[in-house]
Amino acid sequence: MNDPRWSGEAKYRALLAVAEAANSRRDLSSVLDAVASALEGLVPIDAIGVMTREGDRIQPLAVHSRSEPRRDDESDRAYARRLIDMPGPPHEPPPNVEVLERLERSGETLVVDDVPHDPRFAGFAAVKRVGVESLVLAPLAMGAEFIGGIAFARLTRTPFPPEEVRILEDVSRPVATAVANALAFEEIRALRARLEDENRALQEEIDTSAAAGGIIGASDGLRAVLERVERVAGTDSTVLISGETGTGKEIIARAIHRGSRRAERPLIKVNCAALAEGLVASELFGHEKGAFTGALERRRGRFELAAGGTIFLDEVGDLPPPVQVALLRVLQEGEFERVGGSQTLRTDARVVAATNRDLEEVVREGRFRSDLYFRLNVFPIHVPPLRERVEDIPLIAEYYAHHYGRKMGKAIRGITPAATAQLREYPWPGNVRELQNVVERAVILTRGGVLDLVDLEIPSLAADLARPARKAEGPDAERRRIEAALAASRGRVSGTDGAAEALGVPASTLESQIRRLRIDKHAFRGRASGSKH
Ligand SMILES: Nc1ncnc2c1ncn2[C@@H]1O[C@H](COP(=O)(O)OP(=O)(O)OP(=O)(O)O)[C@@H](O)[C@H]1O
Ligand SMILES: [Mg+2]
Repeated sequence: MNDPRWSGEAKYRALLAVAEAANSRRDLSSVLDAVASALEGLVPIDAIGVMTREGDRIQPLAVHSRSEPRRDDESDRAYARRLIDMPGPPHEPPPNVEVLERLERSGETLVVDDVPHDPRFAGFAAVKRVGVESLVLAPLAMGAEFIGGIAFARLTRTPFPPEEVRILEDVSRPVATAVANALAFEEIRALRARLEDENRALQEEIDTSAAAGGIIGASDGLRAVLERVERVAGTDSTVLISGETGTGKEIIARAIHRGSRRAERPLIKVNCAALAEGLVASELFGHEKGAFTGALERRRGRFELAAGGTIFLDEVGDLPPPVQVALLRVLQEGEFERVGGSQTLRTDARVVAATNRDLEEVVREGRFRSDLYFRLNVFPIHVPPLRERVEDIPLIAEYYAHHYGRKMGKAIRGITPAATAQLREYPWPGNVRELQNVVERAVILTRGGVLDLVDLEIPSLAADLARPARKAEGPDAERRRIEAALAASRGRVSGTDGAAEALGVPASTLESQIRRLRIDKHAFRGRASGSKH
């Protein structure tokens, strides 16, 4: 044939333009746009599509269409899916993946002149919908590796002569490189996102599990707890750990994870109280790109990160109501969606939850769903406060005296009987964490190898405030205690002279209590010392 369209030079220029675009443009749609304009005046084409195989599905990667252009905010895949991937009736095998398989096996281009009546395309609903009449499907390969196929379509029944087919095969070759690059790039991006998520989770792990491992104590109360841990660890049952602040709920949660067949997988911790209300759902379930202002990238949630492992929901009583609904669904069906997403994801993470509040009370107050409470409370473990297991105090104190002695390079031999007696006496409102802090301070202060009374700086304010039995403390008493501490610290929560230190609780815990009781901490600024004016 001597058609002037197919002169050597015209073909050469087209090929060059496509190769150029394939090398320089990152998104496949714009590579296909370049292919389309290079073919203009050479081979009439109405639409181009690039697809690959993912499992037993044909996955459309990018399209070019004259009649239906891409929307501004649409990704390559979303656009391609909108145009090509018409899902058939549910439970039907995905449309003709064999077409691609045959392409891979034969390595030969498929030319179809009468698409509507070709049985191989019967399953392609989109082909009918778009009105494709003639089609060239060329394989995309990098060396011996099959990558996918590229389809050139006409909406008129105009058969492709061999010369046109050859040109299409020629321009397909550089497209293969672009597709391989785009797929590799997608994979790298997904891997990187996953790594970042995991790093973030790991970082928090390191911050919180300084003293991971040893659970010290021999009291009946603690033994009963450890026995329950042992019984439940090997099951996949949900566990609800309750207990005052600093009693050891988190190390119990870790012990459950370590004793389970999930020990090799991560334990992922979420502090439900530390997160801004609007962010909890996204933290737990992840979000899609653009789900809300600031959601610049798609992010995997903690439930996804905990796959095969355990998710530890700390301060679960502080979950906002909408998230309670979503968590209930996870516990019942193992299903959830990312924020802003429509795809239903499944999780097999084991749930261990903890709370330092009386959840039943919170349920009665109407701030926690009772159905969720029952789902969480499958296997409750209550960790008693330290003042109810006084026998543990000397053991824990000794343990930490040696622990910090080693860390600070001081040879600590023990604690004097007088000091031990005082430690047993004190009510420990901050429980083990407070005891741990007192011992650490004593190791710093001591001049000899034995910790004595003078080394113990037990906060007297906390002692006074904590003396009334704390167990039955209602919101009023709790409020008075916190307000007294805030008054003494002039509204400061954290730091050496802060109210948290005085009360023997972590600043984050006190902050959440202040928020819950709606105490105005700023009202205490400058109150104790009077105004300076
Ligand atoms: N039996 C124990 N033996 C040794 N260390 C303990 C024991 N119980 C608690 N600890 C230590 O006390 C500190 C507080 O424990 P943990 O964080 O588990 O308490 P918690 O109940 O989760 O506190 P909060 O309610 O404030 O979150 C940790 O450093 C932990 O290692
Ligand atoms: Mg905790």
